[in-house]
Amino acid sequence: MARKFFVGGNWKCVCQHPSEPPSSPNGTLDEVKKIVSILNEAEVPPEDVVEVVVSPPFVFLPLVKSLLRSDFSVAAQNCWVRRGGAFTGEISAEMLINSNIPWVIVGHSERRLLLNESNEFVGDKVAYALLQGLKVIACVGETLEQRESGSTMNVVAAQTKAIADRVSHWENVVLAYEPVWAIGTGKVATPAQAQEVHSELRKWLHDNVGPEVAASVRIIYGGSVNGANCEEQAAQPDVDGFLVGGASLKPEFIDIIKSAT
Ligand code: G3H
Repeated sequence: MARKFFVGGNWKCVCQHPSEPPSSPNGTLDEVKKIVSILNEAEVPPEDVVEVVVSPPFVFLPLVKSLLRSDFSVAAQNCWVRRGGAFTGEISAEMLINSNIPWVIVGHSERRLLLNESNEFVGDKVAYALLQGLKVIACVGETLEQRESGSTMNVVAAQTKAIADRVSHWENVVLAYEPVWAIGTGKVATPAQAQEVHSELRKWLHDNVGPEVAASVRIIYGGSVNGANCEEQAAQPDVDGFLVGGASLKPEFIDIIKSAT
């Protein structure tokens, strides 16, 4: 069965539309509403061609969910690793489900690197989120140092193995390959680089999880995707979509969605 193209917009901790003057580095309600209204007015391919999920910061999630067009969905940018409790500042998977938030991003490199989230911790979090009924965008990717030392596939395989060791159903998992050196740098991976890792990752899934999972799991690319480079990336046979940061706040996000066709 063909894998449906997936485009995620990760708004991170920045919700300011770039065309606006820099009034607030962290975005405002007005800016969030403007971004949503641009998305709502856009003409994009139908839902059976592309799945679109945007991920605003937690405080804006209910508002975005309530205003966003019904053919787009929302994701949280993180959740707690296990059942909720006395964990100040955390949001549990149960709370997301209770708030009708269907998706969560787990294991983004910014959390792996800045907040020391280990492969095992990320694997636990993916498994727990899935168990609660969330759909998960699970991120993997190597640093520049790891790429230059030739260990890209070892790193990505180890990150994926920590998930595979804990997960037996992959229907609700999207794997996002995001080379750290490409995130927010403007240095997008070449289509050949992205295809190489995606294809190796699919082979890893084939050999270590099973042929059906390998054939059906969507592997999306993230790292400096924009309106100008998305079409060539989207043409790669193992690139099933994108996880977009900076450009997801700009009108060109619509062009990225359209690259599904
Ligand atoms: O989650 C998205 C990625 O970190 C990519 O961010 O498109 O700003 O490079 P970027």
